[in-house]
Amino acid sequence: MPSSPFIIVAIDGGAASGKSSSSKILAERFNLLHVDTGSFYRGVTAELLRRGVAASDLPAVHAAAAQLGFGTRLAGRSAVMEIGGRVIPDAEIRSKLVNDHVSHFAAIPEVRTALLSYQRGLAGFAREQNFRGVVMEGRDIGSVIFPDADFRFFLHADPAERARRRAQEGGQDSITERDRIDSSRKTAPLACPNGALSIDTTHVGIEQVVQLMADTIATKIGPA
Ligand code: CDP
Repeated sequence: MPSSPFIIVAIDGGAASGKSSSSKILAERFNLLHVDTGSFYRGVTAELLRRGVAASDLPAVHAAAAQLGFGTRLAGRSAVMEIGGRVIPDAEIRSKLVNDHVSHFAAIPEVRTALLSYQRGLAGFAREQNFRGVVMEGRDIGSVIFPDADFRFFLHADPAERARRRAQEGGQDSITERDRIDSSRKTAPLACPNGALSIDTTHVGIEQVVQLMADTIATKIGPA
């Protein structure tokens, strides 16, 4: 009797498009490791800022990014990144300071390269921890990190609706500006990957979005 296949689910989309909520629910339903790659870019940004490195100082960014030692802890079903053995608190990575700088650091190819193999390596971590697969959310998961993912989804919604959702979560965040930088950068820009299922979440509740994704997954691997 073959064991159930290990699956990789890629979910990409702009700020407040519904990636985090849907990927956490899918992780629960299908026993997947949940990976929020945005939190990694936020963590690297917080760490570089803490070291006094500005995104405009490319030589300093290149030198520092190459030496960040990444590790992983498990919090429930979610992978939490350590930098030099330390987990950067959520309040810090979701701060206005990080919101304002993260897209600038994320546009630097050397920063993306520093995180690339770490992100891919989390599939092995998920296997070791006996998960059935990985659900990874971000901006370039279906295009760059796992272009051969078993399932690739792209979530989008009207900017006004996304701004409303972010305001409801509290905190200050200029999501339009981040989306502009993320979509226009040369390396791994935010875009719907070819062949991904694109879902408009503007007028659709998160339960319906998840159901559509879960049905798509279930048609290939059976029910959760
Ligand atoms: O929470 P929100 O959806 O607004 O953003 P996030 O997923 O936490 O990502 C924060 C920032 O990290 C994005 O605006 C991108 O600049 C960057 N990012 C990226 O470049 N590539 C990824 N795979 C994930 C995030």
